[in-house]
Amino acid sequence: TRHVALVPAAGSGARFGAACPKQYLQLSGRPLMWHTLSTLCQVAAIDEVALVLSPGDEWFDDYDWTLPKLTVHRVGGATRAETVKNGIAALGLSSEDWLLVHDAARCCLSVAMVERLLTEVADDPVGGLLALPVPDTVKRADRDGRVSITLPRQGMWLAQTPQMFRAGVLSQALAGDLTDGVTDEASAIERLGLKPRLVEGDASNFKVTWPRDLPLARAILEARQS
Ligand code: CTP
Ligand code: MG
Repeated sequence: TRHVALVPAAGSGARFGAACPKQYLQLSGRPLMWHTLSTLCQVAAIDEVALVLSPGDEWFDDYDWTLPKLTVHRVGGATRAETVKNGIAALGLSSEDWLLVHDAARCCLSVAMVERLLTEVADDPVGGLLALPVPDTVKRADRDGRVSITLPRQGMWLAQTPQMFRAGVLSQALAGDLTDGVTDEASAIERLGLKPRLVEGDASNFKVTWPRDLPLARAILEARQS
């Protein structure tokens, strides 16, 4: 079986609000997602890193992407789930191959985190994902921004990526309705009645979402380089 990392990068970065999609912002002399792709390429067990771009992407060709294992597929869709589904279809995998789906915008991923996921999920019949136990007390707000309820944080996790599933099961999971709250691969798998394994990730594996996230990502990457 092969291990293929699939990186959806067809988003527009609306919440970040920059002139280009956030995955192309400059970070330590490279586009943000270069760091993401470079880390995945450094994982020995990964055979291919498949990047999925929007068909209308105007930025990719402006930069140097000479990375081993990288393949590029311009088949992104209107939502992240559609981008992943189209990417899988473009890859020609066998159903037993492992897919590790990872957000382009999580640029502080480390090789060690990916290897922990690979080790812990290697023999799992379902698959699994990196996630972080919720450290804080969780409140649900009402419409006026007041606390309507406090939720026990016991057993609560924040889902990260990579999310690692067999290609056959994940294709089947994504063949259903994608408009109904499928915000990650695991939630599509859960709809099949399966229970993905939670593997502890790291706070540094956050997703660059707002401008305030960029200085932290830069500090982490530059600390690792020096
Ligand atoms: N993504 C994608 N195709 C889409 C939407 C998102 O491939 N139609 C990708 C993004 O490029 C990103 C990852 O999914 O790497 C996580 O999505 P998110 O952080 O929400 O990125 P954007 O959708 O670009 O940001 P926003 O929601 O603020 O517009
Ligand atoms: Mg989005």
